[in-house]
Amino acid sequence: MNLEIVRPCRYRDGAFELLDQTLLPHEEKWLRLTHPDEVIEAISMLRIRGAPAIGVAGAYAMVLAAGDAEAVRAAAPRIAAARPTAVNLEWAVNRQLRVLENAPPDTPRAALEAEAARIRDEDEASCRAIGRHGATLLTSPARVLTHCNAGSLATAGYGTALGVIYAAVEDGKQVSVWADETRPLLQGARLTVWELRRAGVDVTLVADSVAATLFAAGRVDAVVVGADRIARNGDVANKIGTYAVAVLAQVHGVPFYVAAPLSTIDLDCPAGSDIPIEERGAHEVTDGFGVSTAPTGTSVYAPAFDVTPAAYVDAIITEVGVIRPVSTEAIAAAFAAT
Ligand code: MRU
Repeated sequence: MNLEIVRPCRYRDGAFELLDQTLLPHEEKWLRLTHPDEVIEAISMLRIRGAPAIGVAGAYAMVLAAGDAEAVRAAAPRIAAARPTAVNLEWAVNRQLRVLENAPPDTPRAALEAEAARIRDEDEASCRAIGRHGATLLTSPARVLTHCNAGSLATAGYGTALGVIYAAVEDGKQVSVWADETRPLLQGARLTVWELRRAGVDVTLVADSVAATLFAAGRVDAVVVGADRIARNGDVANKIGTYAVAVLAQVHGVPFYVAAPLSTIDLDCPAGSDIPIEERGAHEVTDGFGVSTAPTGTSVYAPAFDVTPAAYVDAIITEVGVIRPVSTEAIAAAFAAT
């Protein structure tokens, strides 16, 4: 089976180009960015989103900041801070800062371009390896529930959680997907459904509140989600609502898998409580997509991510293999093997 996989960004003729994900699923518009501030805006507005994809965007923002090495160093903290939770962004900026140490100080751009391309290519290769490892965990047939979008659109290409599904389908497994719509920004409805349908994968959209009913009825065989940051003890930050799904999965005896590259694991972060959680503006909840759905002036709490404790995670699927059971020691061993 040959799946049609989208790539959410590319670098062409000195510009970073991206598919504006705020306009999907109804409009496919590519933006051409030539200044790091434009990339910062695109990341913070979720025109490009998903942990690995914003890592790639951050790496290219560093390219666009050159100039000389000083200009790039000056831009780095602003780029890294465009969104706080996904560690891939800071990780990619730090990789570029290390490249600067050996690049010609007056003309570092070529070296930064080469590193950004490596980050992008490595990410797609990691996704494909995650897919291969994860596909072995799925039965056939399998009804898989996913939350948010951890697909091609959220990575350099192919996806993490959806990469597992793509690889299983490519292996000939019969997989159908329940896509949580993922309030309030609807990454599930707008993005996951869009890319799975494009790839020809069977997908059914559900409101987030339907998940419990599906588990209770025995209609979910596995959960596969992505991650924005995994602490060294295996606690997982991912899109708000993921923790509720993990609790449901455990209560109903359904395996809960997290698919993520090693670049999403933050060994400097001891536990989930140390992960910075981004809070979004009230309007995303009260006035989503231009429709007011709450009284004017309503007070809102809008964390973009939550933390699922490691105890709820059956396995972390990485490019170097499946980490199971999830523990500080097993995560350290996965890094030691690289
Ligand atoms: O706010 P978003 O859309 O960037 O949130 C994305 C997620 O939570 C994804 O699950 C995560 O980044 C993994 S993407 C492979």
